[in-house]
Amino acid sequence: SRRSYHEKVLDHYNKPRNVGSMAKGDNDVGTGLVGAPACGDVMKLQIRVDPDNNTISDVKFKTFGCGSAIASSSYLTELVRGMTLEQAARIKNTEIAKELCLPPVKLHCSMLAEDAIKSAITNYYTKNPKARKTDLGGTGAAIPKVEVETITEGAATA
Ligand code: FES
Repeated sequence: SRRSYHEKVLDHYNKPRNVGSMAKGDNDVGTGLVGAPACGDVMKLQIRVDPDNNTISDVKFKTFGCGSAIASSSYLTELVRGMTLEQAARIKNTEIAKELCLPPVKLHCSMLAEDAIKSAITNYYTKNPKARKTDLGGTGAAIPKVEVETITEGAATA
């Protein structure tokens, strides 16, 4: 029940920050769409990147899921705004879980947010391969591969 949610979760749940969508086709937009196999909840996270300094200038989310997933994505949008892609790619779900005081059973909800930002960054790099090089100091090294569940219509819930 909602009584078991921490007040920080409720605050984000009742007043979610940065809900919405961006035009997926825009070249400066990266879209991440991920799902949690454990419960079937789905999160879409989009970032707009300033190509001059590789920082996240805008961020929007839509989450179809539990209160902790909504709170995790809402908090994540506040966290990543203004970050470089490299910084945002290093965010760990444990950071989110700690801020929101998520209990162990809700850890996977914060994992969804970590997956979503990584997926959005990967999508941006796919559209803008040169940005990846810039971000890594010109080494051209690949960022760590992120395993992302691709959401297909009618995807089964475990
Ligand atoms: Fe699955 Fe929260 S219960 S995302």
